[in-house]
Amino acid sequence: MDLHEHEARDLFAAHGVPVPAGSVATTADQARAAATAIGGAVVVKAQVKTGGRGKAGGVRFAATPDEAAAAATAVLGMDIKGHTVHKVLVTAAGRIAEEYYFSFLLDRAGRTFLAMASAEGGVEIEEIAATKPSALVKVPVDATVGVDLAKAAEIVAAAGLPAEAAPVVAALWEVFVAEDATLVEVNPLARTESGDVLALDGKVALDDNASFRHPAHAAFADEHAGDPLERRAHAKGLNYVKLDGEVGVIGNGAGLVMSTLDVVARAGAELGRSGPANFLDIGGGASAQVMADGLEIILGDPGVRSVFVNVFGGITACDAVADGIVRALDVLGDRAHKPIVVRLDGNNVEEGRRILKAADNPLVTLADTMDGAARTAASLAARGA
Ligand SMILES: Nc1ncnc2c1ncn2[C@@H]1O[C@H](COP(=O)(O)OP(=O)(O)OP(=O)(O)O)[C@@H](O)[C@H]1O
Ligand SMILES: [Mg+2]
Repeated sequence: MDLHEHEARDLFAAHGVPVPAGSVATTADQARAAATAIGGAVVVKAQVKTGGRGKAGGVRFAATPDEAAAAATAVLGMDIKGHTVHKVLVTAAGRIAEEYYFSFLLDRAGRTFLAMASAEGGVEIEEIAATKPSALVKVPVDATVGVDLAKAAEIVAAAGLPAEAAPVVAALWEVFVAEDATLVEVNPLARTESGDVLALDGKVALDDNASFRHPAHAAFADEHAGDPLERRAHAKGLNYVKLDGEVGVIGNGAGLVMSTLDVVARAGAELGRSGPANFLDIGGGASAQVMADGLEIILGDPGVRSVFVNVFGGITACDAVADGIVRALDVLGDRAHKPIVVRLDGNNVEEGRRILKAADNPLVTLADTMDGAARTAASLAARGA
């Protein structure tokens, strides 16, 4: 889960990373009050989970509380790369002498944690990495050793950051470990004219697999984020990812669903059409109810023209899956109006097929093979176009 800047900032503050004073506002009046409380110049910053806010006009300097209110009026409701601004962060404007880049991240390819630092911060780090890679220092961090003050000083020196940055780096490692993050990024980490080192921006990604040990992180779930279908699917506990194609896909087991996406993409390409509309894994022990929930989500996607249900009966046998399909179609009634191709195999396959044949729903086509089913689903989608 990616956090908003203000949420990252709160975690930073909780672990002793210096941040400027600030608070969140959802109206111009709140922004004026926040600026008044801070006193002096402030920066009003759009809270959206995408980069390049500054370039898009979502980061504005305000010398007075009235200017802060005006800035909030301009920024609230703004669209930045498809993200609507619902909140702004009002923070004290620092007098900045220098800007740096710093991050801790999980380097999956390198199978290690990594510290990345550059004395050339503030701008997009991708640009530095591309145009001047020598200015971006990468230091592996051994998970069993971590980052103490000495290691922090070593990283900071290697990157050409001032020695004052070392305790901040050590505190950022605290955030990374204590919060189970996969990314903690500060761009810019700034040195003010008075010599303090502050985190002026923060980007944190939390490891969702560790959420069970962080009940407090539940408060970060963002009801505005993500695709509406994905939100509905996740609320029902389904493993669903929206894709761009026209054939809805349901399967059990991530591996089976991944290979189903491949055959659907190929079958679509053979007809000069798009591929899968989604990934949906109903899991190994899925009940009939889960199948019904999954079908409901997929049939609710306006991009879907046909559905391919590809199930290998294991713990949940094919008859339970067939029951789920029949029940889902009953529940959905007229809302189910798209052709559904079903390929069942494995445990109790005969009974599963019998149930579907007996139900005799005109929307359902039974298929014997995965490739054949994918081709049928693709041509049904093309026909419905
Ligand atoms: N509190 C602050 N005081 C002074 N200047 C600031 C402050 N916050 C941000 N700035 C200036 O604004 C610039 C952009 O801010 P910030 O890094 O938060 O947004 P961004 O980089 O445009 O957004 P993103 O990180 O989403 O790409 C900073 O590089 C810094 O120069
Ligand atoms: Mg930034």
